Amino acid sequence: MLSVATSTRLLLRRHRPLPLTGRIRNIHRTSSNEISILDQRYEVDGTTNITQTIIAKLPLRLHNQPAHPLGILRSKIESHFHDFAHLSSVHPVVTPAKNFDLLGFPPDHPGRSATDSYYINKDYMLRTHTSAHEVETFAAGQSKWLLTADVYRRDEIDSSHYPVFHQMEGARVFKTDKAGIEGVKADNERLSRYLDQSNIVIEDIPHISPTNPVQPTHDPVHSELVALNLKLSTNSLLLKLFGGGARDAPLQVRWIEAYFPFTSPSFEVEILYQGKWLEILGCGVVQQLTLDNAGKYLCYFPLFAQPHPSPGISDNIGWAFGLGLERIAMILFSIPDIRLFWSTDPRFLSQFSENKITTFKPYSKYPACFKDISFWVPEGGVHENDFCDLVRDVAGDLAEDVKIVGDRWSCRFLSLTSPIAVDRFLHSSQDRSQERVLPDKLPVDG
Ligand code: DAH
Repeated sequence: MLSVATSTRLLLRRHRPLPLTGRIRNIHRTSSNEISILDQRYEVDGTTNITQTIIAKLPLRLHNQPAHPLGILRSKIESHFHDFAHLSSVHPVVTPAKNFDLLGFPPDHPGRSATDSYYINKDYMLRTHTSAHEVETFAAGQSKWLLTADVYRRDEIDSSHYPVFHQMEGARVFKTDKAGIEGVKADNERLSRYLDQSNIVIEDIPHISPTNPVQPTHDPVHSELVALNLKLSTNSLLLKLFGGGARDAPLQVRWIEAYFPFTSPSFEVEILYQGKWLEILGCGVVQQLTLDNAGKYLCYFPLFAQPHPSPGISDNIGWAFGLGLERIAMILFSIPDIRLFWSTDPRFLSQFSENKITTFKPYSKYPACFKDISFWVPEGGVHENDFCDLVRDVAGDLAEDVKIVGDRWSCRFLSLTSPIAVDRFLHSSQDRSQERVLPDKLPVDG
């Protein structure tokens, strides 16, 4: 089962098979069966798969640093939606009910699985998306709001995936009485006038279609108006973020039909960037279940200091969107690798200042290096995300890419291409041969 390693590549050979799954939990326990997360203790159980590397990220909240690219982008979007409530300090630990059930995720949705999400124990997990806070935010009486937060998903390792990233959820609800609907119409006219004069080309699709239907409890006219309001609001945001001047090429935006358990109709939005269509956000007309739950479960959300009595949100209709901040920031600041956002190197951080979009200048002169690793695999195999978490715990952000090479027993590490990491790492290991730069023992318990 061992892979063949070339003479220049590191081969880690185990003398007996060691199952990886279930044994990679490199976590500091406060006692034999508890872990501490943001000063709170949680019991561990058979579901626990959170790692120390992930726990260490929880207090960092990059989106709240005003001169960090993620903080700068957050402020820019907030200034566009200036009359919305701006929330950005919401606790990352949620119940699976909040993350999935209250939003209508089916019981067999793959996002729930332990290979995709970080569980603290069977009752608590790290939010996988900012939509996890929709119900409680509506329950707190907010009718137009933005909520920015760190979100956590188990993922592969490469330059555009990281197990922690940042999302912003935006939402707006309207009353369905005459005044509420007149308000939507007036806003649509205002936004349409603005977009008509702007340098933007939009490829649109119908607001509602048989494959992207109106919800049974919605008046189709109201749903159309709200979907239009969503599209106009989103297009103006994209113009603010990516639009050039009148003499530049127009910004090209396209709308695509999508599916999310918590919206209908649902859409994805893409922009044309350097000749390629890039997905920027997901959105749609909020499922009535979310608004109904906001009224029903009000008392379960002590998160906001003074919860309102239920504002009768079931009578409202509204839209929501969710966007990934890193993806947008990588374009706007020309940041080539998602791991750079976590850098504390002054050569990275000093390049940015509050309220300014600037172009990142790479500063490392060192190339990548490669490591091959082989190991015994237990009977049922190893999930790639389990292995990637193990790599993160050992090599941190130095591991740039982990690929299965040839057959599934052999993995290749493309390490050290993050410019900062390369500099720091190679300086501290100049006198070592390539074969020694990764630890020669894996921290597998047992
Ligand atoms: N929560 C979704 C995700 O993480 C993004 C999203 C899609 C948010 C549609 C929304 C929405 O509010 O309406 O992929």
